[in-house]
Amino acid sequence: MKRVLITRDIPESGIVMLQEKFEVVVNRKDIPMTKEEMIKEFPKYDGVLTALSDGIDSDVLAAAPNVKVFANYAVGFNNFDVETAKANNVAMTNTPDVLSDTTAETAWALLFAVSRRILEADKYVREGKWERFAHKLLLGQDVYEKTIGIVGAGRIGQRFAEKARGYHMRILYHNRERNLDFEKRFNATYVELDQLYSESDFISLHCPLTEDTKHLINEDAFKKMKFSSVIINTSRGPVIDEQALVNALKNNEIWGAGLDVYENEPEIHPELLKMTNVVLLPHLGSATSETREKMSQMAARNIIEVLEGREPINPVY
Ligand code: DGY
Repeated sequence: MKRVLITRDIPESGIVMLQEKFEVVVNRKDIPMTKEEMIKEFPKYDGVLTALSDGIDSDVLAAAPNVKVFANYAVGFNNFDVETAKANNVAMTNTPDVLSDTTAETAWALLFAVSRRILEADKYVREGKWERFAHKLLLGQDVYEKTIGIVGAGRIGQRFAEKARGYHMRILYHNRERNLDFEKRFNATYVELDQLYSESDFISLHCPLTEDTKHLINEDAFKKMKFSSVIINTSRGPVIDEQALVNALKNNEIWGAGLDVYENEPEIHPELLKMTNVVLLPHLGSATSETREKMSQMAARNIIEVLEGREPINPVY
């Protein structure tokens, strides 16, 4: 019987699908495996269902020649060495589409939380500071009819843009390539990044992490943004230079930030923890029960397809 390892605990539906066909081991401790542990354990398996924290690099691939498929429990796959896997004919898959709306909603939740100062207000009430209605209490920023700058017009960027239309926002976007369908559907305007930085009231990042997008949002970028702007990141932490973000917030170069992802997860820059104009989530982009079940089934389905000799449904290359 073929063997499958699930490197972290995930919702049951995918596990059950795999158990019907294979011998399955789940890391129920739910602590990320070290590289040494992966190198030691992976050779025992035919398929591995991975988490975004599992770095599947050339060493890990070389140590596990029996593994035919790595199915990431995430849409992002910057933890995969795709070129080496491709050269060795090892399948690598991800979980696109099923989490696009959920992740876009997380970005909107952050955007509203920052712009309307929801966390500060909640804390104010709980600390018993609220004595009376006051006209100047905790004033925030309107979102409707403002300019939103979307970096990345892929699936999640599209779902995010769709919701922006409901707020009658002017939509600017930047993408590796112009996306005419995106422009038409959302009445969006393609702009170079400098223009997006200087004209947007809110900037939301939806690009993958690649060599080109690492530290895309750096000191220079922050200097071009409006003092009143808010930046939202639900993509990958290293897209923002976190130290540059801290400096920009400290120097009031921007108004606030909403972050779901960080440069060195789960570590967070200590200065960010002290700032009241920053809302911090523990990488919850796709974290709803419904979506996480769908991701579980999708990752399982990809492993089943490959181990039964068919093409994966969601290959990343
Ligand atoms: C993804 O799928 O890439 C998300 O970041 C995980 O929630």
